[in-house]
Amino acid sequence: MKTYTLITGASQGFGKAMALEFAERKMNLMLVALPHSGLPQLSSFIKEYMDVDVRYLELDLSTTKSCYDIAEYVDKHKLQIKYLVNNAGVLSRGLFEGLNEEFILKQIAVNVTTPTLLIKLLLKNMKAAAPAAILNISSMASFFALPKKQVYGATKAYLTSFSKSLGKELKKDNISVTTICPGGLNTTTRLCYQNRILGWIPRNTVLNPKEASRIAINAMLKRRKLIVPGFINKCLMLLDKLLPEFIKDALTNREINKFPAGKLQT
Ligand SMILES: NC(=O)c1ccc[n+]([C@@H]2O[C@H](COP(=O)([O-])OP(=O)(O)OC[C@H]3O[C@@H](n4cnc5c(N)ncnc54)[C@H](OP(=O)(O)O)[C@@H]3O)[C@@H](O)[C@H]2O)c1
Repeated sequence: MKTYTLITGASQGFGKAMALEFAERKMNLMLVALPHSGLPQLSSFIKEYMDVDVRYLELDLSTTKSCYDIAEYVDKHKLQIKYLVNNAGVLSRGLFEGLNEEFILKQIAVNVTTPTLLIKLLLKNMKAAAPAAILNISSMASFFALPKKQVYGATKAYLTSFSKSLGKELKKDNISVTTICPGGLNTTTRLCYQNRILGWIPRNTVLNPKEASRIAINAMLKRRKLIVPGFINKCLMLLDKLLPEFIKDALTNREINKFPAGKLQT
């Protein structure tokens, strides 16, 4: 049976960069993203130029049904999922009071419910492909208390914590769980613009998606548990342990206040 890497949110940004990186390493792909996001074109391109098999499913990952649909497709087509990359995520920046309720629930569904359910539904399949690996895309926001990123940060804190515990359980099945916590990634046009006008330190925490995808996949293949990519980001994690709370508050508030309140970052 052919083995596949399943990547959610593969149509653009970090997910697309990872799809290309996995394909370069001659791994077959199963890509998932929303309808009309260019997945058929991306899949044909990778198939034609990179000589790997590519399957794709256009689904709304904010619904639990999408996870069952993925599991059903995998079973029906007898695909063996060796690597699962939970990348799809809804980003945001805005005061809690100003966030739309529907948006909040969708963010929690895509960032929390879907990766959890997908792992649950694909576990049996992945056990048969062992040694196998799960790569969960979290964020440095999962470690800090950031105003205007309260729900987003909390969804990523869930993913980081869930991955650490799950990794311990799945060791016996020879399935590793790696969490990558990027600081910033130059993915969408809006993020590229926002990242350019940041101060020196935060600007230098930002990585390009290609570089980050290489780091993430290498970490997953080395079965690392948790990785914060980038030298400055690693230094910030160390500083976080050393600095008193009031200095950290001053630093995070100063940067976060540069953007208009209530505006979403997506
Ligand atoms: N960018 C950053 O600065 C940054 C930093 C740290 C962590 N991260 C994490 O990295 C991951 C990727 O971020 P990114 O910047 O690459 O984001 P992005 O460019 O907005 O891409 C997000 C991907 O998720 C998919 N997606 C979103 N909602 C979906 C839904 N309801 N159903 C199906 N697919 C959906 C999108 O598909 P469509 O194209 O179909 O919408 C897209 O492929 C996220 O988990 C994010 O939290 C990003």
